[in-house]
Amino acid sequence: MPLRRNVTSLTSPLVASGAAGIARAVAALDTGELVAFPTETVYGLGGDATSDTAMAAIFEAKGRPRFNPLIVHVAHMKAAEALVNFDDRARKLASAFWPGALTIVLPRCADCPVSLLASAGLHSLAIRVPAHGVALNLLAAFSRPVAAPSANLSGCVSPTTASHVAASLGNTVALILDGGPCAIGLESTVIDLTGDAPVLLRPGGITAEEVEAVTGPLDRPHGKTDATPSSPGRLLQHYAPWRPLRLDAVSVTRGEALLSFGPHTIIGATTELNLSSNGDLREAAANLFAMLRELDNPTYRAIAVMAVPETGLGLAINDRLRRAAKPTANQKEAAS
Ligand code: TXA
Ligand code: MG
Repeated sequence: MPLRRNVTSLTSPLVASGAAGIARAVAALDTGELVAFPTETVYGLGGDATSDTAMAAIFEAKGRPRFNPLIVHVAHMKAAEALVNFDDRARKLASAFWPGALTIVLPRCADCPVSLLASAGLHSLAIRVPAHGVALNLLAAFSRPVAAPSANLSGCVSPTTASHVAASLGNTVALILDGGPCAIGLESTVIDLTGDAPVLLRPGGITAEEVEAVTGPLDRPHGKTDATPSSPGRLLQHYAPWRPLRLDAVSVTRGEALLSFGPHTIIGATTELNLSSNGDLREAAANLFAMLRELDNPTYRAIAVMAVPETGLGLAINDRLRRAAKPTANQKEAAS
């Protein structure tokens, strides 16, 4: 069974996301191959969640640690109920935010058909119904759950366009459904409902305040980020560009590119991209990953980033920026 595309293939893996593209994607998923597809958050690297070989291929393609479980995507609530046990809180969250940028972690149900590799051997499963026409068409046509991490190499910036995916994973997918740029541009919010109190595992496209309006106060794990299976979503090495990032910049030094925010920007940068010149956090979220990619260019020694307010979507934006600012193997290698 071919799990990988011939790396010397001359044809572009980008495919228009109409009915013919969906049919090709379904055929590829059926044979255990991987397909990339757009969601409202970021592009996903999808595989048949019931197939061990497809799940192994996802971990291999991304270079992702096997202990970091995947999000399973389904077309509707009924399909989700076949995989995990919903309690009242989960039902309320799902009806408030699905389809949408919210992932809920729940106990796997007894006869859950999802590969244990997808959930990294945990008793829980992360699940969401995406709010994107192409993703929903694909999920409805495939009719099995699709596990899909963000379609980037592990530890790198998530893709918000089809060409971002092609640049890093073009050789490992059967095809990439091109749905244009992602509207939200940040990954989904991950809420763990396996314990007594709901826990915010990852801030994302739905703000913590919006979730709390439904669930009441969320536990927000602070302090040292760990890499254990109980909270695998909080790995430090994530979203990292190759250039070092300097946060809360109020000036730029020679060789730095500037990622600015708001109308009052820093004077003197030779290269500047503004996340949102009128200070709109929604616009900033949608621009974040594409602008980080654009500035992650050997022309610059580093990227200076202006402060972004820690409210609403700013929580998720700052979460990604802080992770990206941690020195990683990528940056150490680039500096050496
Ligand atoms: O917006 C998104 O969520 C995108 C699109 C493609 O849907 N997907 C995405 O997947 O960001 P990924 O694999 O890059 O992030 C999944 C996150 C990770 O932080 C992972 O550790 C966490 O969800 N996660 C998955 N299953 C979990 C589980 N059973 N318990 C706790 N965390 C889990
Ligand atoms: Mg990811």
